[in-house]
Amino acid sequence: MSNYHIKHLEEYYQVYRKSVNNPESFWEEIAEEHFLWRKKWNQVLKWDFDTPEITWFEGAKLNITENCIDRHLATRGDKTAIIFEPNNPDESAEHITYRQLYERVNKFANVLRDQGIKKGDRVCIYLPMIPELAISVLACARIGAIHSVVFAGFSANALATRINDSSCKIVITSDGSFRGAKTIDLKSIVDEALTDCPSVDSVLVAKRIQTDVNMKDGRDYWLQPLLDAASEEGKAEVMDAEDPLFILYTSGSTGKPKGMVHTTGGYMVYTAYTFKNVFQYREEDVYWCTADIGWITGHSYIVYGPLCNGATTVMFEGVPSYPDFGRFWEVVAKHNVNQFYTAPTAIRALAKEGVELVEKHDLSSLKVLGTVGEPINEEAWHWYDDNVGKRKAPIVDTWWQTETGGIMITPIAFATPTKPTYATLPFIGIQPALLDENGTEIQGNQVDGRLCIKFPWPSIARTIWGNHQRYKDTYFSAYKNMYFTGDGALRDEVGYYRITGRVDDVIIVSGHNLGTAPIEDTINEHPAVAESAIVGFPHDIKGNALYGYVTLKETGESRNHDNLRTEINQLITEQIGPIAKLDKIQFTDGLPKTRSGKIMRRILRKIASNDMSNLGDTSTLLNPEVVEAIMDNAL
Ligand code: PRX
Repeated sequence: MSNYHIKHLEEYYQVYRKSVNNPESFWEEIAEEHFLWRKKWNQVLKWDFDTPEITWFEGAKLNITENCIDRHLATRGDKTAIIFEPNNPDESAEHITYRQLYERVNKFANVLRDQGIKKGDRVCIYLPMIPELAISVLACARIGAIHSVVFAGFSANALATRINDSSCKIVITSDGSFRGAKTIDLKSIVDEALTDCPSVDSVLVAKRIQTDVNMKDGRDYWLQPLLDAASEEGKAEVMDAEDPLFILYTSGSTGKPKGMVHTTGGYMVYTAYTFKNVFQYREEDVYWCTADIGWITGHSYIVYGPLCNGATTVMFEGVPSYPDFGRFWEVVAKHNVNQFYTAPTAIRALAKEGVELVEKHDLSSLKVLGTVGEPINEEAWHWYDDNVGKRKAPIVDTWWQTETGGIMITPIAFATPTKPTYATLPFIGIQPALLDENGTEIQGNQVDGRLCIKFPWPSIARTIWGNHQRYKDTYFSAYKNMYFTGDGALRDEVGYYRITGRVDDVIIVSGHNLGTAPIEDTINEHPAVAESAIVGFPHDIKGNALYGYVTLKETGESRNHDNLRTEINQLITEQIGPIAKLDKIQFTDGLPKTRSGKIMRRILRKIASNDMSNLGDTSTLLNPEVVEAIMDNAL
């Protein structure tokens, strides 16, 4: 039996037992038999959740791009590695073979080398979903530079914060991006960000929307001429298994975004292994994950996991609604997609448009459907199952996080019987635990608690860039010897897990993590605002939307509330990005606070959710009278 490819439920249980009884020998065998190493490791695993310090395959040498590209050249040189599907359906799709990918990554790597980028340097990539994004990610990995991809929907301010946090030396961007019927001038956002980024020496600019942009002499270079002049051959840098591969920022409940650091060897092994099994990818399949490479889903399951398996992976530049809400299904039919992986928020938005747009397209190629990013509600699950998968394609509801690098709790397609809204069973090697508020592990089934992981897995983030203490405090201090996920979960009678949502002050809106504190800080910067509190409330399409309670410095009718609402959302768009805009803003004379001055978000959450029947105990409040007023004026 091959432990690399699991096909049945009994096999899953058997391999799972092996992986938790003897994790080191289990992962050693997987790593040894299915990947290309320049030198083997001295030790498979060292870990201490207290320090915390975790290493996998210590002492091993490799380059992840040799695993993603070079090793396929002999047998898959002419196979399509990446299908690029442009925003505009009238523009032809591009098929990039493994050999072409090899050449293009080498050229890009040589351009970076010529710019003076060396192993360990940080490279910020701020690009739309065009081939240069995947290629620049791989080019960084080829030369050992640490990529930090920033989603191209973030504002100049958010971009600058991320560039400065990890002192990036170079920014890779484009003149602009297409998004449905709109274009966005990315280069001018970069220019604005760079007024305050002293570490950046140069900017490489890809041409996409053919617009005039400002090019700063001695700093900005058009990418294409440099690529044209570069050699398509080049050696891959030999990396240590524990050398950082990338930094990816994720929101915390407080403070600035956390630069999660992923390293090379363990991340490669785990993302490749999960990809193969969760989606049951077979050699001739075409796989499509609709995420953006700016998020972890794109890193692990558009780029590294699929390419490591020699897969054909689709990169889609557009949006689900352009030119109409049938675009996803048109692309599935056009490229004969076999595995399709998207977010519940997209499913809900498409379901709202009716089944006619689905039925117009031939979806018979689909074998496996996936979802990720937030809990999927039962209605959306069934809509996906009935109309897209025609009840023949299993839905893999994959739970994981930026911090976990790869999928953690999930069905294995065709092996694990699915259950609507359940992420089902831990993946191979993953040891979940549910804890109560006192930190005691809850045994048995039909229970719920805080979701923790008891044992390291190969792709766990190793630190937060520049702030190991925060890494320790956020993930390893809540419960002793446990990685704390920040999520709540329940375990049903057969041991299936259902993720119930965040238990901290992170709110997931349309699958994007948003911390409340950074948004509140932004609102409080408005000169008229005294104080604010943000909570989530259920939203039909986004899963959650944001509700802001805002108190003003001067009360009364002196300011137009509608104007203020617009200004507040404008400020949020500038400082963070449009994804963090508030759906509702209620102006109030006060916020409910405990005697120690803490805002009682529990009450605000209930009011925002229109669930005011049982607000719980309000007697401990410093100012119980404001609750009445807030309820009376709730939006
Ligand atoms: O709350 C969980 C939710 O998304 C969080 C992680 O967000 P992020 O780091 O942006 O990564 C998203 C893509 C992996 C988790 O803590 N989440 C993710 N997947 C699911 C989910 N909630 C429920 N079900 C899921 N399948």
